[in-house]
Amino acid sequence: MSNADVGLIGLGTMGAMLSLNIAEKGFKIAVYNRTTRVTRDFFGAAGELAARIVPCETIEDLVANVTPPHAIILMVPAGDPVDQQISELSKFLDRSDLIVDAGNANFRDTNRRSRAARAGGIPFMGIGVSGGEEGARHGPSIMVGGAAESWQRMQPILSAIAAKHEGTPCATHMGPDGAGHFVKAVHNGIEYADMQIIAEAYGILRDGLSFDAEKCGAVFTNWNAGLLKSYLIEISGKVAAAFDPETGRAMLDIIEDKADQKGTGRWTAIEAQHLGAPITVIEAAVSARNMSALKHLRVDGEKHFGAAAQAIANDGITIADLESALVAGKIICYAQGFDLLDAAGREFDWSLPMAAIAETWREGCIIRSAMLNDMASALRSAPEGNLMFAPYFSELLKSHVPALRRVSSRALSAGHPVPALAAALSYFDSMRTARSTANMIQGQRDFFGAHGFERVDRDGAGFHGPWGSHG
Ligand code: 6PG
Repeated sequence: MSNADVGLIGLGTMGAMLSLNIAEKGFKIAVYNRTTRVTRDFFGAAGELAARIVPCETIEDLVANVTPPHAIILMVPAGDPVDQQISELSKFLDRSDLIVDAGNANFRDTNRRSRAARAGGIPFMGIGVSGGEEGARHGPSIMVGGAAESWQRMQPILSAIAAKHEGTPCATHMGPDGAGHFVKAVHNGIEYADMQIIAEAYGILRDGLSFDAEKCGAVFTNWNAGLLKSYLIEISGKVAAAFDPETGRAMLDIIEDKADQKGTGRWTAIEAQHLGAPITVIEAAVSARNMSALKHLRVDGEKHFGAAAQAIANDGITIADLESALVAGKIICYAQGFDLLDAAGREFDWSLPMAAIAETWREGCIIRSAMLNDMASALRSAPEGNLMFAPYFSELLKSHVPALRRVSSRALSAGHPVPALAAALSYFDSMRTARSTANMIQGQRDFFGAHGFERVDRDGAGFHGPWGSHG
């Protein structure tokens, strides 16, 4: 039997890339896939890294090839497949071993599996891994959840394979149980929002300013040299600039306008509602994906009402305005994401390392961007405050929100949908309104349900208005 440092189950794209990354960093890895041909093909294509890869054809074989105490990484689809693998592995592992779920699990499942492990099962930890195929192969961002001793045990491998920011590994222990997977879900929620505001800017360029795809690509590529510098802006430039080799048409004009989703953005929105945390930009982005899927209805809608008729080209929006609007939208959306993390940390007693989360996202993951470095600094100085109020970001907002307002209002008045940008603006405006209109809501609640309210001129709660049985 060989003495592999670690085992991995699931050689789909992410599992295969992660295995090669682990082998490349000098660790010996035993691998297993349910379909043996996949394992053989993977091993056959591993080149010189094959010397540190042990292909296994059964789970028993996999466990036997890993040096005890065994650490086995799962890279299988989230949900039932994870439970099935845990139950299968339990036949061959004992309580000195460790199962590491590196898939996109719902943190509530990770909590449940961690509880089961503590109640006599095999020790278990859940880690969020971001960066897609390229990240998994050459350095992902890793959000670790689980017991401190499990993290210590896996740290040498996880730190070695993670992306590095100026030498610091983007792999951080976020807290116990599902903390790592929760942080990964919020990462994905922000990913949805970041993608959506970029898509809205593309919509204004395309439909409002009549830019063709190539010209849109050039705009994104220029923006990537400024405050918006990020992986998502960079790839948006590349996507927009690409041509379909078969038809010669712009790739963007060939791609159907229906966005898929695997659920992590939706989970973020659901958890935010449970926690009472307003993440309006992320929610708008999730809803926009849902609306995109309703293509048939949108086609009908256009027949009924007509599409936006008005171009906004001569209405005073410049490309610089659009860039500024995205800067403001992005800050607001991240402020919401970090507020959600703060709320979750308090609710679940996790003490999430806010600044370290921003640091972990600086490289390797899908939302990596230059701005995350400044966010990390702001969160180091004030981990609990809203990011919008940090001096650096409040100054940025003061100079960029006017453009967000111009862009959103002109887009709306011309009939171009900008749900995420408009949500960002409304959030900003709500957050700088000391006296909101919720006094009316409280009055209504008291009127129809005697729910009571607080008064501005007295201490205490449970006051009633002069209406109905309370009049
Ligand atoms: C990442 C990504 C990844 C996610 C895809 C697709 O951080 O590497 O978030 O985990 O699975 O981006 O997600 P959707 O199918 O939900 O768009």
